[in-house]
Amino acid sequence: MELSTIREAGFYDVDIDPSLDLFAEIEKLKKEKKAIILAHYYQEPDIQDVADFIGDSLGLAQKAESTDAEIIVFAGVHFMAETAKILNPNKKVLLPDLRAGCSLSDSCPPALFKSFVDKHPDHLVISYINCSAEIKALSDIICTSSNARLIVESLPPEQNIIFAPDKNLGGYINKQTGRNMVLWNGACMVHEIFSLEKITKLKARHPEAKLIAHPECEEAVLQIADFIGSTTQLLKFVEKSEFGMFIVATEAGILHKMQELAPGKTLIAAPPDNSCACNDCPHMKLNTLEKLYLCMKYEQPEIVMEESLRLRAKKPIEKMLELSRKLGLVG
Ligand code: 13P
Ligand code: SF4
Repeated sequence: MELSTIREAGFYDVDIDPSLDLFAEIEKLKKEKKAIILAHYYQEPDIQDVADFIGDSLGLAQKAESTDAEIIVFAGVHFMAETAKILNPNKKVLLPDLRAGCSLSDSCPPALFKSFVDKHPDHLVISYINCSAEIKALSDIICTSSNARLIVESLPPEQNIIFAPDKNLGGYINKQTGRNMVLWNGACMVHEIFSLEKITKLKARHPEAKLIAHPECEEAVLQIADFIGSTTQLLKFVEKSEFGMFIVATEAGILHKMQELAPGKTLIAAPPDNSCACNDCPHMKLNTLEKLYLCMKYEQPEIVMEESLRLRAKKPIEKMLELSRKLGLVG
């Protein structure tokens, strides 16, 4: 594929010499270009292994804010790389495959959301970071699954709030805080796929196993979970827990790091409600080691953003980062 068409296509698709040691080449490119690779725990194991920093959405935003690298290579999905660009207008931010979107982000189209917000004039807007820059620009404060509860609790109890776009995370926070936030009706396709029936059977077969779940899961799954937390919180829980077996209700990419942190423990991926038995996020998994190498070599595809949108989207992200700092929260 010609270099000039990469931007339009959004990803590289060229043959790579099969004898090339991609790990060594990527290390070389990192040094040559003063680049840092930030990866989400849902990336494929090879990408996690070559990354300089692996984190959940909060950790990645915090690292993107503090890095002094000249190029940020974001092994994650579009809204994550976009957040890094919003915080770093003068750095080049690369995403190995620009088509790596997010079903949750897509469930909140900006024009519809704007009229929803307009219908609730006395409400403050808290948006989960899994949304587009346009949605961020319509928000007062951003949160992630690591800090959503504390961000909501930092507001006076009488404050009316719109929470978007994830109705599952919003509903969970409503329950935890006793609030009645107005919820946008969005969801993540990966976290809504788990089968309650199959999980219940699995629990019966392994009564010693603890069910751990991400708050993007549906309420029925959260209700029977032994622990609920963001990606990093789930990892820490398993690492430190006295228990030895876990049913893990989140994207399967997390199992790589989880097993590394807790080598003696048994991890079972929660079964999905379909026949393919796959908990992979199809968006996250568009990135591959080959595309990562090519995007570093050619410095494309790059995240670009209109400046006035960037400035409007930056304010609510900065509020979240500031509050997280004050509360000592690290993702
Ligand atoms: P966290 O990284 O906040 O755990 O969110 C998970 C997720 O779905 C990211 O896309
Ligand atoms: Fe979006 Fe869900 Fe994939 Fe995360 S796991 S990127 S929320 S579709």
